[in-house]
Amino acid sequence: MTDQAAFTDLHSHLVPGVDDGARTLDEALDGVARMVESGVQRVVTTPHFDASLLRDPGRADERLSQVDEAFAALRAAVADVHPDLVIQRGHEVMLDDPFPDLSDERLRLGATTAVLVEWPRLRIPPATPDVVARIRDQGWVPVIAHPERYHGLAREFGLIGAWRRAGARLQLNHGSLVGRYGAAAQAVAFRLLEGGWIDVMSSDFHSRAHLPVFVDEARQWFEEHGQGEVFDLLTRLNPQRLLADESPEAVPSFTIERGFWERFTGFLRHRES
Ligand SMILES: [Fe+2]
Repeated sequence: MTDQAAFTDLHSHLVPGVDDGARTLDEALDGVARMVESGVQRVVTTPHFDASLLRDPGRADERLSQVDEAFAALRAAVADVHPDLVIQRGHEVMLDDPFPDLSDERLRLGATTAVLVEWPRLRIPPATPDVVARIRDQGWVPVIAHPERYHGLAREFGLIGAWRRAGARLQLNHGSLVGRYGAAAQAVAFRLLEGGWIDVMSSDFHSRAHLPVFVDEARQWFEEHGQGEVFDLLTRLNPQRLLADESPEAVPSFTIERGFWERFTGFLRHRES
């Protein structure tokens, strides 16, 4: 049932020359080809955007126009090489201003009400549930990028529930499951999946030759854990629902068997908290 939706990626840095992702059109096309090889059928690519830029409409417009132009070139080139791939754009909005005006549809994922957001510099500022609630009150649905990567989240795990109750959706990076960001992020990723708190998974792929996409590794991880249907929900149905301005479906929780070191670091974390 869930596999009828396209395999979708909502977080990547493919637009050439506008952030720390692809530097050139060739590099972007190489990255797109590798995503397609991994089975990705729909991409909403998300260059970095600093929310503080919106305080100065001129600078914000300059940035958005720069991305418009580079994205148009990418989309035209992709249409030639991968005519079946749907490619749209959004941004990964860094909330260095906690109350940005997100009314420009280019800031949102494929011009839906959903907007990919991140807390600045991988640290969690104060009052984040209020920030989420305020964004929701304005009619937008914040999708928090890679919660597993924020420093200190393991010690403040209650924030996950607070963000969700305030209306946030959560996006996990594929690579986190297989240790791309270290053992701490991996352990948090496991806890988030065990709780059924993740709504969607994406690559956060930065489109460089030395970087893996990690879709295949994540798919394999879910299959090895007997959770292929959960993977489909996180990569097909729920992204599709978000992009149709619908609520994601509840994701089943499941237990992950840990190896010795994962149990040991889990014990230390428990003792610290
Ligand atoms: Fe990103």
